[in-house]
Amino acid sequence: MYDLNDVNGTVLFEEGDHKFIWLGADPNAKQGVIQTNQFLIIDKGRGILLDPGGIHLFSRVVAAASRYISIEKIDTIFFSHQDPDVSSGIALWLGVTKAKIYVSKLWLRFLPHFGIVDSTRVLGIADTGGSLPFSSGGSLQFIPAHFLHSVGQFNTYDDRAKILFTGDIGASVFPEGSEYLYVDDFSAHVKYIDEFHKRYMASNAAIRKWVSMVEKHKTNILAPQHGALYRGPAVQSFYAWMSQLRCGIDLIDEIYGR
Ligand SMILES: [Fe+2]
Ligand SMILES: [Fe+2]
Repeated sequence: MYDLNDVNGTVLFEEGDHKFIWLGADPNAKQGVIQTNQFLIIDKGRGILLDPGGIHLFSRVVAAASRYISIEKIDTIFFSHQDPDVSSGIALWLGVTKAKIYVSKLWLRFLPHFGIVDSTRVLGIADTGGSLPFSSGGSLQFIPAHFLHSVGQFNTYDDRAKILFTGDIGASVFPEGSEYLYVDDFSAHVKYIDEFHKRYMASNAAIRKWVSMVEKHKTNILAPQHGALYRGPAVQSFYAWMSQLRCGIDLIDEIYGR
């Protein structure tokens, strides 16, 4: 179970001057509002935030990140896609950091609707992806995950930490009180992911394309934006489950009610 008072978070990986951190639970999480995870990579004293979240979480995420790094050292912010739970805090983050923001090029013209945004600080990722080198060696790779669920969607792969951040892919929706941080028993976990993936993910063809990309990377932790983190054998079990999933337009008749 998450410790709902654990606002400090957990260091998921640390080696030399490279860390990958889960920024903790939201003690004010309410029923009816999906729980979100935020992640912070610190590499040689420089911070990278992954999906820092919406406006209402801003002060909590600033406080959590400040336990590990001073906020002005955050020079990169990544948005997996355009949803409000990912990116609606954009104007606030641009105000307290000098960071550049990376997001699919499809969303550059839409993000300013979340507030006053200096567009020179928002950089579009091409459909094929890209990477940012770490000062300490290795890189943060932007891996395409289009249509899962957003039409312009990326994962990040930290090739030092071997952690794949997947945005909404792998998201679990827990009933109150049954949360846990790590998926260790995948078959018992399916009930918390099944409904979400069937409706939000666009199609099995999109999933198979994504699996063919991510399975090339050795992944110790698969970290979604919502719910529990997959580790060890649960990563491969999740890929196998996803590969056979019919979802989205595969279920178009069921969704319309025929
Ligand atoms: Fe989303
Ligand atoms: Fe999300």
